[in-house]
Order: sequence, then structure tokens, then C-alpha cells
Amino acid sequence: MATSLLFSLLLLYLSAAGDAIGVNYGTLANNLPAPEAVANFLKTQTTVDRVKIFDANPDILRAFADSGIVVTVTVGNGEIVGLTDPKVARRWVSDHIKPFHPRTRINYIAVGNEVLHWGDKFQVAKLVPAMKSLHHALLLEGIKDIKVTSPHSLGILSVSEPPSAARFRRGYDKAIFAPMLKFLTETNAPLMVNPYPYFGYNPKNPNYSLFKPNRGIHDPATGITYTNMFDQLLDAVHIAAKSVGYGGVDLVVGETGWASACEWEVCSIQNAMDYNSNLIKHVNSGKGTPLMPNRKFETYLFALFNENLKPGPLGERNWGLFQPDFTPVYDVGILRNGQKPGSGSWGKKWCVPKLEASSQALQANIDYVCSSGVDCKPIQPGGPCFEPNDVRSHASFVMNSFYQINGRHDYNCDFAKTGVLTTANPNLVCKRASEDQKRVLIVVRLKASWEN
Ligand SMILES: *[C@@H]1O[C@H](CO)[C@@H](O)[C@H](O)[C@H]1NC(C)=O
Repeated sequence: MATSLLFSLLLLYLSAAGDAIGVNYGTLANNLPAPEAVANFLKTQTTVDRVKIFDANPDILRAFADSGIVVTVTVGNGEIVGLTDPKVARRWVSDHIKPFHPRTRINYIAVGNEVLHWGDKFQVAKLVPAMKSLHHALLLEGIKDIKVTSPHSLGILSVSEPPSAARFRRGYDKAIFAPMLKFLTETNAPLMVNPYPYFGYNPKNPNYSLFKPNRGIHDPATGITYTNMFDQLLDAVHIAAKSVGYGGVDLVVGETGWASACEWEVCSIQNAMDYNSNLIKHVNSGKGTPLMPNRKFETYLFALFNENLKPGPLGERNWGLFQPDFTPVYDVGILRNGQKPGSGSWGKKWCVPKLEASSQALQANIDYVCSSGVDCKPIQPGGPCFEPNDVRSHASFVMNSFYQINGRHDYNCDFAKTGVLTTANPNLVCKRASEDQKRVLIVVRLKASWEN
């Protein structure tokens, strides 16, 4: 008894002492460094000691062997249904885990990726059985130190404000979350959630999303005034978990972050840097949240790299802390020895048409950019940047996209001398309507709760 108490205290001390910051290492790009280089970079140049990957890529797992960096692997949504078969689960563990663990320290298997959001109803129905099946397969293989969890967007909540009113969506509460949280509690595993104050950004109160001074949001039921949306979202999940009987479940932040460039004012290097660096300070302070005080939530930033093959609006390709050549996009304080990013002006520039550029030249730029692989749907009818419908506005949008996507070299804004770089945000006026539809649902809900 005394020993186990001492041991628990020691664990508590150890978990409180270290930092708790990891990164999501996404690979939807064709210009990323080799996994060995990534592992070496993280180990020698940063304070990051854990990564999360979106599959179980053997090359990545091999690269992190003996690195001291812990890896979370992900089971794809498409694999969930099959994994309910114990034989399939056993084979998955022997193919994807056994060859690497423990030389590569794997801490979690994340089952699915926001499957309630992106998955079909069969995948959703089989989520918890698949988690159990993988857990048993691990035990049968003699692996006791890898926890099975599942990451979820905040779309699992029907309401997140005020936190005291938060509940899981009806239909998922009893059928999915009650049994999942029971399983997680019994196996001492955390629930993984992906809170994004970015998607709840309110232009009237940006500071609330960015951990900067603001009047806060009062929760009358608890008497708590929340001064940042991150705490609000985590407490909302906590209350929802409590409402199905599992308030004690541990939470891990599987993803959070901020895009540094996109078509809207919300994305800027400054906002991304403010959010991520304030988040890291907040998490590492060990303050926890108002309802879960004195905790350091293990937190995985999204994302390690800008990923040039991610589909969707420009913002999707600009979530990275680093360029593929390891140049920091901005400084969040995870570099060792207080290193500073090379170029301070990086990304604070926009490419716009010169005033004297002719409509003909600008149309040629549009044709060129749109045939070069840049997504021009936003300027097509129905797209968020279609209005104002004139050549100059459309050219502004695509020339800037081209410049941002291709590495922001000065020559990416030349356009036969019709483009010019500016440090004044041109405030490209795009309606937010067609931003990644599913994620927008979350924004809409959060915004709606603001405006009520
Ligand atoms: C937002 O935060 C900044 C400091 O980062 C502060 O100067 C400003 O007054 C704040 N805005 C509001 C509305 O509180």
C-alpha cells in the first residue's frame, strides 16, 4: 500500500515535471524529408518528445527506434470494421506493432480519425468493438504498455457552451460514448479529443481563441468565467463524459493548432504563433482547466509540416510549424537552445497584382495558376471568393495562392512583372461558406452559441 502510494506520487511527479507537447506528423505532401531526418531533427533540434502519425507507416516507426520519442499510431477509419474480428486484430498487431515495439516506443493506438465525423455508420457502430478487439490482441501478444484510444472532433458534442450544458450528441451518448468511456476507464486509457479554437474564432473576440486578454465567457451554472476557448472546450468534453457516468476519464488533446495562411483574416503567422505558443505555455503551466485543475494535458499540435498535397482551401496546406526543409514557419518555443527561425518576415507577405497590370495580363495569370494545380474552385461560381466577380479580384486570389503554395519565393510573385509583394494584408474578401464543409459545422455551432 505504502509502496504503491509512493509509486503513484512518483508517477504524478514525473508526469507533472516534464513537458507534455507532441506534434502530429502528417505526410500528405510530396516534398517531406525522410522519416530518419525527421526523427533526428525532432530529437536534436526540438523539445518535442512525442509524435502522432495518421497511419502505422513502417518506415516512420522504424525511423523512431531508440529515438526517445514516443509514437501514437492510427488505425484508419476503413480498417475499423475488419478489426472487430479477433484474428484480424491479432494480425494487425503482429504486422504493425510487434516488429517495432518496444525499440520504437508506441504509447497509443488511435482507432479511427474523427470517425463520428468522417466515417460511415458501420465504422461508427464497430468503433468500440474494434477498440476492444485491438486491446485483447495486444494482451495476447504480451504487450501491456500500449493503450487503445480513439480521437474525436468536438463535433461529438451537441452543445459546448456553456460547458456545464455540454452533452454528447444524442444517439452517440449511450450507444457509443458510454461503452467507450467504460472501456477507456477500465483500461486506464485516455479519451483523445481535437479541440480547435481556430474553428470557433469570433472576429469580435479573437483574444478568446488566442489565450489573450478578454472579458471571458461566464458559465452561470458553475460560476466559472472562461477566458480561453481551449479550456472551455476541454471542460465541455469533461462535462459530457460526466453526464454519461465517466467524468473521471483522462483526456489527451490529439490535435489542436492554427493555420498560418488562408483566405480569411483568421489565419496569419501572428495568430498561429500566438495560439500555439500561448497554448504550449498554458499546457505546460500545469494549471489544467477550471474543472480539471492542476493537470498537464498531453497535447499534440497540428501539425509538424505544411503539407502541400492536402486538398481543400489554402488553409489546409498551412497548418505546419515547419516547412519541409525544417525552416520554422514561426517560433512557438519548441526549438532547443532558444533557436530562432531564420527569416522573420517569412509568410508575412502577400502577392497581389500591380495596379498597372492589364486585365488581359491578369486573366493570363489566372489561366496559368489554375492550370498549375492550384485549387481554383474558390473563385468559380458558388465558391467563397467568386464575389466580387472581376478579373482583378480573382487574379489577386489565385496569384497569392500560387505564391503561398510554392514556397513564397519572391520569384513566385513575378508573373511577368504583373505581381508585387505587399506586407499589408490585402484582406481578400471571401465568404466563409465553402470552407471545408464538415469542419464548418463546428464553427457554425460555436458561432451560433456566441451570437445567441
Ligand atoms: C486583446 O489582447 C491584446 C494583448 O495581446 C490587448 O492589447 C487587447 O486590448 C485585447 N483586446 C481586448 C478586446 O481585450
